[in-house]
Amino acid sequence: MPLFADIEQRAQALRQQLHHHAHRYYVLDAPAIPDADYDRLFRELQALEEAHPELRRPDSPTQRVGGKPLDGFAKVRHQVPMLSIRTETDIEATGARNFDTRMRRELRLGEADPPVEYVAELKFDGLAINLRYEHGVLVQAATRGDGEVGEDVTQNIRTVGQIPLRLEGDASLPVPRVLEVRGEVYMRRDDFERMNEQQRAKIDSGAKNEKTFVNPRNAAAGAVRQLDPAIAAQRPLSFFAYGWGEIGGGPDFVTHAQVLQAFKTWGVPVSDRVRVTRGADELVAFHQAVGQDRDQLPFDIDGVVYKVNSLALQRQLGFVTREPRWAVAHKFPAQEQTTTVEAIDVQVGRTGKLTPVAKLAPVFVGGVTVTNATLHNEDEARRKDVRVGDHVIVRRAGDVIPEVVAVVPERRTHDAPPFTMPRQCPVCGSDAVREEGEADYRCTGGLFCAAQRKQALLHFGQRRALDIEGLGEKLVDQLVDAGIIRTLPDLYRLGLGHLAALERMGDKSAQNLLANLEQSKQTTLPRFLFGLGIRHVGEATARDLARHFGSLDPIMAASPDRLLQVPDVGPIVAESLHTFFAQPHNREVVEQLRACGLHWPEGEPAPVASLPLAGKTVVLTGTLPTLSREEAKTMLEAAGAKVAASVSRKTDYLVAGTEAGSKLDKARELGTVILDEVGLKALLLSGN
Ligand code: IVH
Repeated sequence: MPLFADIEQRAQALRQQLHHHAHRYYVLDAPAIPDADYDRLFRELQALEEAHPELRRPDSPTQRVGGKPLDGFAKVRHQVPMLSIRTETDIEATGARNFDTRMRRELRLGEADPPVEYVAELKFDGLAINLRYEHGVLVQAATRGDGEVGEDVTQNIRTVGQIPLRLEGDASLPVPRVLEVRGEVYMRRDDFERMNEQQRAKIDSGAKNEKTFVNPRNAAAGAVRQLDPAIAAQRPLSFFAYGWGEIGGGPDFVTHAQVLQAFKTWGVPVSDRVRVTRGADELVAFHQAVGQDRDQLPFDIDGVVYKVNSLALQRQLGFVTREPRWAVAHKFPAQEQTTTVEAIDVQVGRTGKLTPVAKLAPVFVGGVTVTNATLHNEDEARRKDVRVGDHVIVRRAGDVIPEVVAVVPERRTHDAPPFTMPRQCPVCGSDAVREEGEADYRCTGGLFCAAQRKQALLHFGQRRALDIEGLGEKLVDQLVDAGIIRTLPDLYRLGLGHLAALERMGDKSAQNLLANLEQSKQTTLPRFLFGLGIRHVGEATARDLARHFGSLDPIMAASPDRLLQVPDVGPIVAESLHTFFAQPHNREVVEQLRACGLHWPEGEPAPVASLPLAGKTVVLTGTLPTLSREEAKTMLEAAGAKVAASVSRKTDYLVAGTEAGSKLDKARELGTVILDEVGLKALLLSGN
């Protein structure tokens, strides 16, 4: 049995090692030892403390796992009030300029005086926390509360891996005797998504009292104010420091940036987007740059914060009521807002997909006015239980289509029924079916369905299909809404008379369109097949089919088994093609298009195996002397080769031009045959 002093020393050493590795893991994101080694050290310390409870310290990493549930939180009076911050609501640059103008006025600076130095930071969207360290050890964590009195959430905060339980200083930068670090507890978006997925799985397997969270902020705030620390310990929280309360006995700081730098040195997480800037222009630039990156950040922010950097100037500026004069929050347009659902419509897409869409009372969110938000599909709509008349939270981030995040259940006063997906297409009345394993209902009406017609026409006319210039969205809307066009062949029955009747259609444009339609009649089989908009049949598949069968009729007549013989055609594509051509109205559309004069060169079926480069994979890189990349690709594909994007062991040939880079290196490494343009042409002739 070792002496007690030895045990104490061992416990101390273990704590130090665990602190060091936790900091590398949680804060620096650069672990130095495998998780298993960390766990081993952790268990050793746990066992020591178990056997000798008097060795337990509040800063021991074992204290992170969460203690017993509480009845409620004790109140904590803040030594230095936790103030809030003035908010500039201007969305544009004026927010930053107003602040700088105000600072210069308050500081009585003239035009000739140099620019004021600021610190620009992110405004994290979480929950403000005060962390009190005494002699470097975390002794208390409290929420802001009303700014004077908050709640003691120490147990929960101890479970946050990023928050150091002990600060490590050194001789040149000792940790103050008392230090209150202030910052934001938040949840990263990926952690939030993962956690919600787990919550959904629990709910699906019948767990009661579990719920999903609306957004990372609510999830973080909920976790911090969770009475059972064991539950809080399972919530993936993060932390950034941006300020402080009481500081007693430590280095003399001159600027705000210096303090944040010291925090970093002591092991407290500080965002690396903190910038020291001068004057209004640099604040404007910061606001713009962050605004652009906002959606790529791993966590939510709702704006930026500007602070006067000099602590002496901060003191001079002082406070107005409960806000410091020396700081301002400059917000971005909110990405979430509450509004009401006026109706739930079901929209029909090109391939017949039915999407429930909430029609909303107009609301300004994410910088635009939103009136529609997707509910994705039946399961999503059910899970969120969105009903007509509900108050809902709508989110629009970046260019993503707006979505309903959640219903505000407390505000439901009506008894509207739950949403159900129609079993008939709301537009053409054909059966809507949901196939096994799929999330979506689809209308079975195909090209016959009016709602799918507009999308189908646009798809048919696009450059990569029939290439009908001038057939844009507005015109298609007009033609379909006026009942002039019901099916694809109607396009080729258009006359000047129809077009002249349309608004904003001049004679010249009408004539051009008719000429373009005429020209489009001469096409190729792959373009025609792709243009039909058959589900799962993209350009490449259309090409494979055309090459394999040579002409349209055998494709239309092919059984799924026969279709499966086409290289790269799998069961899903085969089934989709077969179903499409089994519908009499789809066959009718094809016949009518042919009758309207659409034609393409048809050839003999060319079994792929008979082509000279069948089964060969070729990669192109660099610039060839005479052939463009497209030309080389077309020639290779016509000879039956597959043109791939990257070099692998499966690559048979690499065709390299000038400025070939890493693909050439890779090919050399793998011993792939390397050809130049002359070699390529020889290969196309000989086939080996
Ligand atoms: S400074 C005395 N800096 O926004 C100034 N606050 O209303 C105290 N926040 O309660 C706040 N990021 O919860 C500051 N970089 C940042 C911040 C920040 C988020 C929060 C904080 C505060 C609220 C301001």
